[in-house]
Amino acid sequence: MDVIQAIKERRSINFFEPGQYLPVQTLRDLLELAELAPSSMNLQPWRVIVVDDPQRKKTLRQCAFDQPKVEEASAVLIMVADPAALEENLDAVLGSWMQLGYMKPEAAETYKGLAGKLYSAADSLTRKLFAVKNTSLYAMNIMIAAKGFGLETHPMDGFDEDAIKQAFGIPEDKIIPMLIAVGYLKSGFTLLPRAFRKTFEDFVTFNHYT
Ligand SMILES: Cc1cc2nc3c(=O)[nH]c(=O)nc-3n(C[C@H](O)[C@H](O)[C@H](O)COP(=O)(O)O)c2cc1C
Repeated sequence: MDVIQAIKERRSINFFEPGQYLPVQTLRDLLELAELAPSSMNLQPWRVIVVDDPQRKKTLRQCAFDQPKVEEASAVLIMVADPAALEENLDAVLGSWMQLGYMKPEAAETYKGLAGKLYSAADSLTRKLFAVKNTSLYAMNIMIAAKGFGLETHPMDGFDEDAIKQAFGIPEDKIIPMLIAVGYLKSGFTLLPRAFRKTFEDFVTFNHYT
């Protein structure tokens, strides 16, 4: 499937075929491919918790306002944005840049200083936005790539974040921008036509906001 077709055909699927097994290898291929998403300074501030165990899906459904798709989908991905990824990953990123010749070793300290200034303190709003925007780009890549694997998805922000953190052992400083249900469309089910989209004129201007 080409990328234009994947974008046209991706829909948020409300009705998944329950009990459909999704091989771990397929999930692994999907999540690794989508991990080629861009990120600020290549810091990849995301983690993913794959919830595919039936009991754990039940628990997650309770945290997600009882949305049935959480239990019916083959797996649900808890997308975790990590504001601390700057401290955790910067050395690895800079090391790779030096090794590959993107950067001279003497520039490393300058980059570290720049990153600290740009993305601010670990508990700042700037840092939270950094984590969430990058994790959301990764999430979008997952949803597009899933079409190429013959899979359907559904992003969700209808959940109690604190309840999920508690039930799944996610540290307090992390953020959950969304869940993504992954699986197969329920057999015999036809999707309604895609709903309202803004027109080009509604949301695009050239060279100025208005
Ligand atoms: C971040 C995000 C959160 C969403 N949360 C929910 C949700 O909790 N429950 C739900 O039924 N749909 C949810 N949706 C799905 C949207 O309603 C859906 O994307 C939108 O209606 C457009 O439909 P389409 O994705 O089929 O084009 C969410 C979508 C996004 C991007």
